[in-house]
Amino acid sequence: MNSFDPEIPYNELPVLPPSIDLEIPSVLKACIRANKELAKLKIAERLIPNQTVLINSILLLESQASSAIENIVTTTDELFEHAQDSSPSMSPATKETLQYRQALYQGYASLKERPLSASVVCQICSTIRLIETNIRKLSGTALVNDSTGEKIYTPPEGENRLRELLTNWQNYLHQDDDDVDPLIKLAVQHYQFEAIHPFSDGNGRTGRIINLLYLIEQGLLDTPILYFSGYIIKNKSEYYRKLLQVTTNGAWIEWVLYFLDGIFETSKWTMSKIFAIQELMEEFSSVIKSKAPSIYSKELIELLFTQPYVRIQNLIDSGYIGRFTASKRLKILCDIGFLEEVKRGRDKLFINHRFLRLLKKK
Ligand SMILES: Nc1ncnc2c1ncn2[C@@H]1O[C@H](COP(=O)(O)OP(=O)(O)O)[C@@H](O)[C@H]1O
Ligand SMILES: [Mg+2]
Repeated sequence: MNSFDPEIPYNELPVLPPSIDLEIPSVLKACIRANKELAKLKIAERLIPNQTVLINSILLLESQASSAIENIVTTTDELFEHAQDSSPSMSPATKETLQYRQALYQGYASLKERPLSASVVCQICSTIRLIETNIRKLSGTALVNDSTGEKIYTPPEGENRLRELLTNWQNYLHQDDDDVDPLIKLAVQHYQFEAIHPFSDGNGRTGRIINLLYLIEQGLLDTPILYFSGYIIKNKSEYYRKLLQVTTNGAWIEWVLYFLDGIFETSKWTMSKIFAIQELMEEFSSVIKSKAPSIYSKELIELLFTQPYVRIQNLIDSGYIGRFTASKRLKILCDIGFLEEVKRGRDKLFINHRFLRLLKKK
């Protein structure tokens, strides 16, 4: 074991792959279990008629949880209320969470053009932080215990060393002749990325976006819909502790097992959320068809489940209808109890409470 001192930049961070054999029976078993569940999620994902419906909401939940891990806390209500506008009344945390979503979308789009790399990572972090962010040049970055002020971990420093480590990280991501299961590699690269800590801030959030992008790059998912940060936020200290123990004790196995359990759990969670949303959509469809057949359309139902806060303008935009017709349709939806009208300044908002409740149920 090399010498690690939390006070001193950890320039000796070992490069990948880890020097121990990770493919022991317990890991392989957990890996099969996680892969199975993830494969089911991928199938479910493909069965969804309109993917934007789900991507929209699950991606926002992921953004919320990942930001909350960094103490950027916003409520589900506030987040979804502002998901589609840039109103100045939103809190800084909501703004930052929406920025995270933007980075996730951007990263997802960039996968079609180029593979994950150090430069993609810089782009993601710049979008999250809303300022041009590059690999750290200065020293002074450290993870500190908030209550005691003690240093927990001081990442490597020196731009060259950081670039070297990132190149090794990037090669590891794309080296496929090593025959290691991509989910094991996912866990390994996440530790490594966080240990490199290439930026002065934003490393945690950037790393968690990369996790989703890596799953897509490896063909394990089509879209970034896994609610993985939901797993971490449930027990954040375990996440921090396990990351540190890889550094201090070489506890790779525990780390990988923790991660694989997370993939298993969140694949299951995401899948059940998808099915619950679909079920509710079907219920809305059939009730509208029987109680207000004149306003029924597939697009209308999808719109109601693209976000739980609907504005008149959303209907105008999606249905090529005028304001009068749009308002009338929303009024009917209120009358049959599917939406509730609320006022926000001069604006009217229509809340799909049942959908919102479903999204809030973690
Ligand atoms: N012991 C550790 N070693 C390496 N990385 C760690 C350790 N503990 C926590 N981390 C990572 O550092 C992240 C926080 O870094 P930071 O740059 O502040 O990210 P963000 O701005 O997204 O908050 C955590 O979310 C976690 O991923
Ligand atoms: Mg931070």
